[in-house]
Amino acid sequence: MSRLHKAWAAALAAVVLAGCSGGKGEGAVADAGEATAITFTPSPVDVAAEAAKLDGKALFAQRCGMCHQTIGMAVGILSRRPADASGGLLEQREDLSAAFVQAAVRTGILNMPRMPRAEVSDPELAAIANYLSRGKP
Ligand code: HEC
Repeated sequence: MSRLHKAWAAALAAVVLAGCSGGKGEGAVADAGEATAITFTPSPVDVAAEAAKLDGKALFAQRCGMCHQTIGMAVGILSRRPADASGGLLEQREDLSAAFVQAAVRTGILNMPRMPRAEVSDPELAAIANYLSRGKP
């Protein structure tokens, strides 16, 4: 019997014995369950507070700049829109709201692929959206 199997056997025996002990009843089993409960809920993150510590302009250059700065492909695509006065550059726009920027990034929009939290975290995206929207929610 391997060491792991021995450990399981010992744990099983403990459970069986606890079940047979009679006098303590269900309460004892419930207490034991509470003591060993494992939860996988991540600790909550205060997105706004975390975002306030970040540099939205620098993050925009890092995460979005390859498409949205200089000759990135999004600059070319967005500059073709009629009535575009920004030259296709998001940083020149005055009409962006933070909510629109976040929705575009998380869901993707036409030729732009969506970006999941593994690529840009919620606080990072909030900082970028705040920068691009010039503070407009
Ligand atoms: C792989 C290239 C790529 C990356 C990376 C990228 N985008 Fe885009 N994005 C695009 C393209 C292309 C469009 C134009 C979509 C269209 O109209 O077809 C676009 C459009 C947008 C729009 C919509 C503009 C409008 O008026 O419709 C927003 C907002 C935006 N991107 C924000 C971001 C932000 C913020 C990031 C970084 C977190 C980012 N994008 C990263 C390619 C990219």
